[in-house]
Amino acid sequence: MATATISSEQAPPKISKGRGSYWIKTFGCQMNKADSERMAGILEKMGYISAAEELTADLVIYNTCTIRDNAEQKVYSYLGRQALRKRKSPHIKIVVAGCVAQQEGESLLRRVPELDLVMGPQHANRLETLLDQVDNGQQVVATDESNILEDITTARRDSKYCAWVNIIYGCNERCTYCVVPSVRGREQSRYPKAIKEEIANLAERNYKEITLLGQNIDAYGRDLIDTNEINPKSTNLSKLLTYIHDIEGIERIRFATSHPRYFTDQLIETCANLPKVCEHFHIPFQSGNNDILKKMARGYTIEKYKKIIDKIKSLMPNASISADAIVAFPGETNEQFHNTLEIIKEIEFDQVNTAAYSPRPNTPAASWANQIPEEIKVSRLREINHLVEKVAKKRNQRYLNNLEEVLIEGVNPKDQTQLYGRTRTNRLAFLPLHTSRGISLKPGELVNININQVRAFSLIGKVD
Ligand code: SAH
Ligand code: SF4
Ligand code: F3S
Repeated sequence: MATATISSEQAPPKISKGRGSYWIKTFGCQMNKADSERMAGILEKMGYISAAEELTADLVIYNTCTIRDNAEQKVYSYLGRQALRKRKSPHIKIVVAGCVAQQEGESLLRRVPELDLVMGPQHANRLETLLDQVDNGQQVVATDESNILEDITTARRDSKYCAWVNIIYGCNERCTYCVVPSVRGREQSRYPKAIKEEIANLAERNYKEITLLGQNIDAYGRDLIDTNEINPKSTNLSKLLTYIHDIEGIERIRFATSHPRYFTDQLIETCANLPKVCEHFHIPFQSGNNDILKKMARGYTIEKYKKIIDKIKSLMPNASISADAIVAFPGETNEQFHNTLEIIKEIEFDQVNTAAYSPRPNTPAASWANQIPEEIKVSRLREINHLVEKVAKKRNQRYLNNLEEVLIEGVNPKDQTQLYGRTRTNRLAFLPLHTSRGISLKPGELVNININQVRAFSLIGKVD
């Protein structure tokens, strides 16, 4: 996967309130990261404190991902280590949360009998109740489809300035390769009022940037029709963006992930008109070939996709565009693979997250006979990644000598003399701790930096 990220796993431990220490390890997408932050909030409210390390914690939670087989396999080696530890220290609790938990359910207990709790993503907000059952001596499996509880105030967030805000859970699509609908359940939108309250609360606590989250964010509001919160008849993402836009203190609004099938002109116009909405769009296209798109059941053509991008570029010429793409989907010919490469060259993406197709349990494409051999997967992945990097580097040249607004997020963990942050277009950017005039800069500040160096996936600049 071609990507550049900075991540902080956990903050330093605090003084114990006597409940023991916890460690959460998160795999997978932003949805899982947001769930982990809410679970950490619940644990701290219960009196748990953050552990110094994974192998000393009294309670460990693996918040898992099953999008591809290698993501799923990772967790088993972690569980093996914890199971060994539990044999020596029976008081420790081991929890598997997230998408592998949902997919495997009870069978995880057979595989790792030391587990205390297996809980699907829809149960993240019920962690306290579930742990109470564990404390009563039960081994608990919580994977039934449930209405997600509204519980927003207690998240313990990794960042002090940028926050994820779930607006819709689940996915009602049926892309033939994808495990998400079966592990995340049906779409459930949160009420606009609850979302606005959460964001207002974040603004009061000095957060500057929010990212609205959903697996298919364009579906937002569909299931709320006929509720009488706001917009009694219906709501959608464009209306929500307008509704939350003027919350004082919030400077930047982002959203992910967009689906080309439902991405509307109205949304593009709304983004162009609302100054806080950042000029960055993450719109996975998955394949550059219409026959493959049809077999994936994506519900759009590559021509429709290009039209969306054209419209974005016509209204926001500096917008950055990122996407996801899958290579070696069952039956993909060399020519069809090249259609995907061509679209990357044509659109000149700022970033493309790539993956070789991985057959997933209970998905249609996994049982098709025309699977692509491993060595072709590897070579196509290598080729596409090479192209993505080349295109990104070329595309990044447009930043050179530009003035770009950066929200400073922290000190670069790999170089303590630098701060890092992101541009409005979501490019990672590095800058010195001080301005050219010697004024020190702090995380949480929005500054304009002169870009003087450009890499494939990051920028370097300074404040004059
Ligand atoms: N909801 C988003 C993304 C879902 S998962 C969307 O509709 O695009 C994130 C990415 O993982 C997908 O965009 C896809 O590129 C990739 N992915 C999903 N299932 C996969 C599979 N079985 N094999 C390889 N990549 C997969
Ligand atoms: Fe998976 Fe498709 Fe839903 Fe995205 S839209 S989560 S790829 S089923
Ligand atoms: Fe993985 Fe679940 Fe997200 S499968 S990508 S953590 S929705």
